[in-house]
Amino acid sequence: MTTPSVPSGVFGVDIGGSGIKGAPVDLDRGALAEPRHKVLTPHPASPEAVVAAVREVVEHFEHRGPVGLTFPGVVVDGHTRTAANVDQGWLGLDAEGLFREALDSPAVLLNDADAAGLAEAAHGAGRDQGGVMLVLTFGTGIGSALFVDGALVPNTELGHLELRGKDAERRASAGARERHQLTWAEWAVRVDEYLDLVERLFSPQLVIIGGGVSRKHEKFLPLLKERSARVVPAELRNDAGIVGAAMAAAKYSR
Ligand code: BGC
Repeated sequence: MTTPSVPSGVFGVDIGGSGIKGAPVDLDRGALAEPRHKVLTPHPASPEAVVAAVREVVEHFEHRGPVGLTFPGVVVDGHTRTAANVDQGWLGLDAEGLFREALDSPAVLLNDADAAGLAEAAHGAGRDQGGVMLVLTFGTGIGSALFVDGALVPNTELGHLELRGKDAERRASAGARERHQLTWAEWAVRVDEYLDLVERLFSPQLVIIGGGVSRKHEKFLPLLKERSARVVPAELRNDAGIVGAAMAAAKYSR
């Protein structure tokens, strides 16, 4: 009898507000090595419940080896520091340590937009881009990853810049478009306002638009006004978080 082979290598998990998705990643190609497995994010998304869901995703592949994980908030030295759209139980937690223990594997945890940014910078729309580049993910919130000559400045949290007296992501995220039932044209005006603000602050040469809504980029990117920065859709779309998490695991996991 042959024993089933246990795949080894690097694994990425993207923890989002609605789903927790993971897959082994082919780091050379910057792509998923197998179709991803997704489970629904538990509600409430308490640390214990999310850790259990992540285990289920990783065990689905019988993966052994380093695991990279994303988190939709600030992560410093593996500790989750903010929780804008997730359960408050994450605040101040050594979440990376929790995953390392639960998975019995080396693990690294990083901000979700930073992970997507790493993947786009290495394998997607940001390849070979020098100078200042921004990856903005439009979903429930707005995530940001800032690169200077290819180096990531982590946890920039530009979704929380103030726009018309509010948290920018409350006005201009893809979630806000759905909540306020905006047409693509109405939403594009808000996205333009937001891009004006980040452009004034950072003068990026390139802005990459990611997040779930980037699948529908042809509906709104042509409606945006001309600006100094080039604005392009993300290339890895919804896989960027998984790929970037695995890239970080290969490099930094403990
Ligand atoms: C969080 C960020 C996150 C973004 C996208 C924001 O509300 O503060 O950390 O990257 O949502 O999930």
